[in-house]
Amino acid sequence: MNIFDAIRKHYNVSGVHATTAPDNPRSQFAVDRYKNHLPKLIKPGMRALDLGCNAGRYTFAMEEMGAIATGIDFAEIPLRHAKEVAQKRKSRCQFNIGNIAALPYKENSFDLALLPQNNGYLSYQTLESLTVQLKEILSDNGIFVVIMHDELVKRAGEETLLERYDVQTGLMEGHITLPGKGVYAAPWVFWTVAFAKYIIEKHLALEKVEQIEDNRFMLVFCNKKK
Ligand SMILES: C[S@@+](CC[C@H](N)C(=O)[O-])C[C@H]1O[C@@H](n2cnc3c(N)ncnc32)[C@H](O)[C@@H]1O
Repeated sequence: MNIFDAIRKHYNVSGVHATTAPDNPRSQFAVDRYKNHLPKLIKPGMRALDLGCNAGRYTFAMEEMGAIATGIDFAEIPLRHAKEVAQKRKSRCQFNIGNIAALPYKENSFDLALLPQNNGYLSYQTLESLTVQLKEILSDNGIFVVIMHDELVKRAGEETLLERYDVQTGLMEGHITLPGKGVYAAPWVFWTVAFAKYIIEKHLALEKVEQIEDNRFMLVFCNKKK
C-alpha cells in the first residue's frame, strides 16, 4: 500500500471524534494554540485554503477570522462531517475531496494556504510539488503557512529512533492502534524545520519562522510573482 492509501485509510477508519469535530468544544484546543498567530495573517475577504482539513476545524476557524475558506482532504469520512457542519452552521466554507499532491485549483485561486501539522504525511518530493503548485494557485503576494514540529527537537536526548526509519526517503513506518478497530499503518516522514524551509524557499520567499511552543513552529512564505 502506498503512503497516500495508508494515510487515507487510517483517517477514514478513525473517523471523527470529540477532539477533532469542529462542532465539539473539545476540539477547540487545537485552534486556540494559534490564537496569537493565525488571526494576524488573515485579512477580511481573503481566500484561504486548509490543506488536509479533516473535519474542518481550521477551515471554520479561518472563516470566523474573516476568510472565505476552503478545505481539502482525501479522506471522505471526515470531509462528509465537515460538509454537514457547514450546512448546519450555514457556513460558506467549501470542502473538496482531493490529494495535496495534485490540487484541483486553477491559477490565482487563493491568497493563503495553511498546512497545519500535516507535513509529516508528505514525502520530501510531495512537499516540493505542493510548493510548486502553490506558486500558481496562490495570488501575487499570497502566503503559504506551514505549522510543524521538528523531529530532531522531539528526539533530543534519545539515542535510538523508535520507529523503523528509511534513510533514503526519511519515511518512518509507524503504526496506530485505533481502539476497537485494529492496528493501521501510520507512515510519517522525518521532517526538520531547516529542511522544510530549504525545500519551500526554492520556490517561495521566506517571510518568517516563529516558534509557537517548544516544538511547534510556524513558517510563513510569500508568493512573489513579479
Ligand atoms: C492530523 S489530520 C489534521 C486535520 C486538521 N488539520 C485538523 O487538525 O483538524 C491530517 C489530515 O490530513 C489529511 N491528509 C494527509 N495527507 C493528505 C494528502 N496527501 N492529501 C489530502 N489530505 C491529506 C488526512 O486525511 C487527515 O485528515
